[in-house]
Amino acid sequence: MGKRIITTDETEEDQRLEPSLRPQTLEQYIGQEKAKKSLKIYIQAAKKRNESLDHVLFYGPPGLGKTTLAGIIANEMGVNMKVTSGPAIEKPGEIAAVLNSLNEGDVLFVDEIHRLNRQVEEVLYPAMEDFAIDIMIGKGAAARSIRLDLPRFTLVGATTRAGMLTAPLRDRFGVIHHLEYYTIKELQTIILRSAEVLDVKIDKAGAEAIARRARGTPRLANRLLKRTRDIAQVLYEGEITEEVAGKALDFLDVDRCGLDNLDRLILNTMIDKFGGGPVGLDTLAAAIGEDGGTIEDVYEPYLIKNGFLIRTPKGRCVTERTYGHLGLPVPEEKDA
Ligand SMILES: Nc1ncnc2c1ncn2[C@@H]1O[C@H](COP(=O)(O)OP(=O)(O)OP(=O)(O)O)[C@@H](O)[C@H]1O
Ligand SMILES: [Mg+2]
Repeated sequence: MGKRIITTDETEEDQRLEPSLRPQTLEQYIGQEKAKKSLKIYIQAAKKRNESLDHVLFYGPPGLGKTTLAGIIANEMGVNMKVTSGPAIEKPGEIAAVLNSLNEGDVLFVDEIHRLNRQVEEVLYPAMEDFAIDIMIGKGAAARSIRLDLPRFTLVGATTRAGMLTAPLRDRFGVIHHLEYYTIKELQTIILRSAEVLDVKIDKAGAEAIARRARGTPRLANRLLKRTRDIAQVLYEGEITEEVAGKALDFLDVDRCGLDNLDRLILNTMIDKFGGGPVGLDTLAAAIGEDGGTIEDVYEPYLIKNGFLIRTPKGRCVTERTYGHLGLPVPEEKDA
């Protein structure tokens, strides 16, 4: 699989871009009103009582602002944040060392928390619950465990796969939030703010045109803004208007609904070779030369969410909307 411009995973390009665009306060953080509202209350309450914030878990698709929110929490609480991730911690001793290095009130951010292994997780249970860890010293018959007190800290966990989190770990979070895809309006606001930070001239309609193609994802909105700016600088002069944004994104092969060539290849193949479906995942995968798992995890969710594709017991089918979007007539027996 080549690199898709519309991937919502973090790319190298994003890594250079994101630090400057990341909102630092709840005030600057756009959308996710429910999560924001409740965090605001918890943060205020914790500060008033001079306590650490309850442990917080964020889950939801990539690029929706989980890492950003973790940073905001630390910032609003006025504490430091230590960052680690599930795959980075292999041994119980490693997580113990991280925990031991925290100061009172600190935020420990654990990204991809569903990928922590069992032994490491077991160190976290008493750490989260009682702010203590048990360490074994000595070997064999002389071995004994001693309890080490930790400062009161806040664990902020993030995962794209909430279903893969074990129940005992999930139960230890006091606050759990699912991050939602953003509306066009919210993405437009994010783009206008990013344009200001990056000193890019863009009007409201231009920002909306980019927002429409950003698949509900701020990370992608920012990336498309940057690419549009690059193209606009070379091919068109001045401000990014609706027209310039449209042309630039057409040039990048990102269409009006945020679909790229691969999305369209999947849909066209289903129509051309399988009469619009139903077609089994493996058959479809073979027809476009792609791995079935990748289609299922990476391409399909957005297509399903936007009504371009449905799953039936007999296989995948395209919809009326798909024909309309691709500019094809709807076959008669398909008008269900
Ligand atoms: N609510 C928001 N308002 C403004 N910008 C946002 C918002 N949410 C995310 N962003 C922007 O999108 C970028 C990606 O967000 P972030 O890295 O927090 O996503 P994530 O959910 O942690 O993704 P991943 O699952 O890949 O780790 C940030 O750098 C930030 O610039
Ligand atoms: Mg992240």
